[in-house]
Amino acid sequence: MTPPAPLFFLLLCLPSFTPALALAMPRRPLFRWPWRRASVPAAGYFPPGDAGGTMLTIAPGTGGLGEPLNVILAATSSPAVLIESQANGGFLNFFLSIDFAGECLGQHMGEPQQANLGDGRGFVNESAVLRYDYGDPALGTCQETVQGGNHFRFWRQSGSSANSSALFMATSYEKPIKEHHDIVVNGYNLGRDWLVGNITKSPINTTALTNTSTFSGTTSFGGYTYTTAIAYVSGLLANSSAGVNHAETVGVNGANPVDGLVAVLDVKITTAPANASISAGWRAAPPRTGMAALFLFGVLGVL
Ligand SMILES: *[C@@H]1O[C@H](CO)[C@@H](O)[C@H](O)[C@H]1NC(C)=O
Ligand SMILES: *[C@@H]1O[C@H](CO)[C@@H](O)[C@H](O)[C@H]1NC(C)=O
Ligand SMILES: *[C@@H]1O[C@H](CO)[C@@H](O)[C@H](O)[C@H]1NC(C)=O
Ligand SMILES: *[C@@H]1O[C@H](CO)[C@@H](O)[C@H](O)[C@H]1NC(C)=O
Ligand SMILES: *[C@@H]1O[C@H](CO)[C@@H](O)[C@H](O)[C@H]1NC(C)=O
Ligand SMILES: *[C@@H]1O[C@H](CO)[C@@H](O)[C@H](O)[C@H]1NC(C)=O
Ligand SMILES: *[C@@H]1O[C@H](CO)[C@@H](O)[C@H](O)[C@H]1NC(C)=O
Repeated sequence: MTPPAPLFFLLLCLPSFTPALALAMPRRPLFRWPWRRASVPAAGYFPPGDAGGTMLTIAPGTGGLGEPLNVILAATSSPAVLIESQANGGFLNFFLSIDFAGECLGQHMGEPQQANLGDGRGFVNESAVLRYDYGDPALGTCQETVQGGNHFRFWRQSGSSANSSALFMATSYEKPIKEHHDIVVNGYNLGRDWLVGNITKSPINTTALTNTSTFSGTTSFGGYTYTTAIAYVSGLLANSSAGVNHAETVGVNGANPVDGLVAVLDVKITTAPANASISAGWRAAPPRTGMAALFLFGVLGVL
């Protein structure tokens, strides 16, 4: 039996009508407790420079020089990805999906670098270092330590005055250990772009990048699939050599060693293994069209 025309029309409209209504609702609460801290900006991080921080690290023994924080894992990512864990699709698992792993046999070499992310904590030691694993998660980072290669140190923006949970990464491509792990020519920009290329699985042309460049890629590890949107942004990091460690040898033909672009990664878990814990903070995009069709069939079936 066909329902009366107006009812049928209303039923057809209902599934798409509901999300439209949700979008029309104000995004921010109308009332805000005065003592509530600022919410995380839409970009998924607080610019460190807004509150006394800086996008250059301090490397020990350099008289205050440092490396550019040239990649950000934004807080817009799936919540599980922001957790420093290999379980539940956490960011250690995400980085395994692009061939980055913890240090060789758990060893850490050298004094930590420090960064001030403008989150109220001042300069703090790096959390850890991940290295390119040459496709071997177990021992590949030992090869990186000896032969050199891509690596990054990271810090979490987690102080109480700017607690975004975003990760700020100082990425660079280093020379072999016998050359004291200096940075290769253009090694800050190239380290960033090879890491991004590992996500997109096609080379990024460093000299063609601008603050409007965007990319995307899909990678998997341990039963999790990640879809990453990458946007290069300017205005956080200076296009400059000022304060940059190894500036004279890293800049190509007199160019700045740091081009001023930061790759912002928005990493979403799009599939998780069937055994994944639902409470782990990941959620795939709701299957809206499927739900709408199911709803419609259900309603028509009843009538
Ligand atoms: C930073 O690391 C250095 C060297 O390992 C250590 O001496 C210092 O206590 C650390 N600082 C903090 C705040 O953990
Ligand atoms: C920062 O936010 C995280 C997650 O929302 C929370 O667990 C943590 O306690 C917060 N830290 C501070 C210092 O407010
Ligand atoms: C992936 O990373 C490796 C090591 O840094 C690099 O040699 C390679 O060019 C990268 N792949 C892409 C497509 O950028
Ligand atoms: C990279 O971009 C530059 C500048 O746009 C261009 O001249 C060069 O041919 C490009 N290289 C490749 C390999 O596409
Ligand atoms: C992009 O860079 C240009 C200069 O190259 C600058 O004028 C513009 O403001 C930048 N846009 C953003 C969104 O940062
Ligand atoms: C869940 O399944 C994935 C492969 O689909 C496997 O790698 C992982 O070890 C499993 N985890 C648990 C807790 O069984
Ligand atoms: C960085 O500055 C140089 C000039 O010093 C300019 O040629 C180059 O295009 C700039 N790079 C970016 C990515 O804006």
